[in-house]
Amino acid sequence: MRIGLLTGGGDCPGLNAAIRAVVKQATGEYGYTVTGFRNGWRGVVDGDVVPLGRPDIRNVLPVGGTLLGTARFHPHAEDGGLDGVLATLEAERIDSLICIGGDGTLHAAQQVAQAGVDVVAIPKTIDNDVEGTDLSIGFHTAVNIATEALDRVHTTAESHNRVMVVEVMGRHAGWIAVNAGIAGGAEVVLAPEEPFDIEAVVKYLRHRHRAHANFSIVVVAEGALPKAGSAMEYEQALGRFGEIVAGSIGERVAAEIAERTGFDTRLTVLGHVQRGGEPTPTDRILGSRFGVAAVDAASRGESQVMTALRGESVVMVPLAEIAGKVKHVPSELLRVAQVLA
Ligand code: F6P
Repeated sequence: MRIGLLTGGGDCPGLNAAIRAVVKQATGEYGYTVTGFRNGWRGVVDGDVVPLGRPDIRNVLPVGGTLLGTARFHPHAEDGGLDGVLATLEAERIDSLICIGGDGTLHAAQQVAQAGVDVVAIPKTIDNDVEGTDLSIGFHTAVNIATEALDRVHTTAESHNRVMVVEVMGRHAGWIAVNAGIAGGAEVVLAPEEPFDIEAVVKYLRHRHRAHANFSIVVVAEGALPKAGSAMEYEQALGRFGEIVAGSIGERVAAEIAERTGFDTRLTVLGHVQRGGEPTPTDRILGSRFGVAAVDAASRGESQVMTALRGESVVMVPLAEIAGKVKHVPSELLRVAQVLA
């Protein structure tokens, strides 16, 4: 059997563990060959291939990013993109394509599968918002990094009597914000799941600083939204179109807090720091498990499925069940973040 392998969408720590596991399991136990495609779906369309064997995956476990490269490129959205994918896969005589990616890559995987290609997907995204799996590759490392950042910001907040606003990634779901917020002892956590009222945030901070503290940590997910109907929501909506307010939601929140409370306030945007560097053991293990499971599924002739962690087990879930869905932070977890504030 000839296996194709690609990583698509944003990179994250743990991808190399998954690549390594696919190569080891495919070439070892099964005696298959593995063809890597550089830079995600872009490399499939362009026929940018690299044969993958044992020497290519040596010492990659602790290395962040992806040795195959990646790109935000969706073949079904490009003129002739899907045809390009099919032509390359035929030319390379690929029997099963393993795609490691987030929502965009998984959506593309489904389109390619529907055109007649055997496809097995592996979920990765630091946002952890892929439906159907408890964890996606990269999330655990991102939470570690964000928590460490909160711990560091804590000491300087306390020394300077400041409000520190920390913006973390998470466009559609607040998994990083909520988890790092709980682990890092944030006073306020703003996530896309619960649109916030800036007046309530400010009221709480004023009360806290009057009653028992002289500093606060506010974590804001990049996709957090002001409550519908609030003045801030109105301005934010205009800002999205570049008309009035420029900048991220973190900037807006920090500016509002400073203006309304008079507290010395600073903003830290963690950005791509959350996606870089060494993966945690959890991400290395998850990537390894998903890689082995994906090759096993391909060997059984399975297609249009994704590896998923459910409790202690790795299972296969149909792509159709998860396509187009966002896994949101459950209310229990959101509540813990609020209760501990
Ligand atoms: O991969 C998910 C993610 O890290 C989001 O949290 C973030 O909004 C986005 O990617 C950033 O994308 P890019 O690296 O293309 O700027």
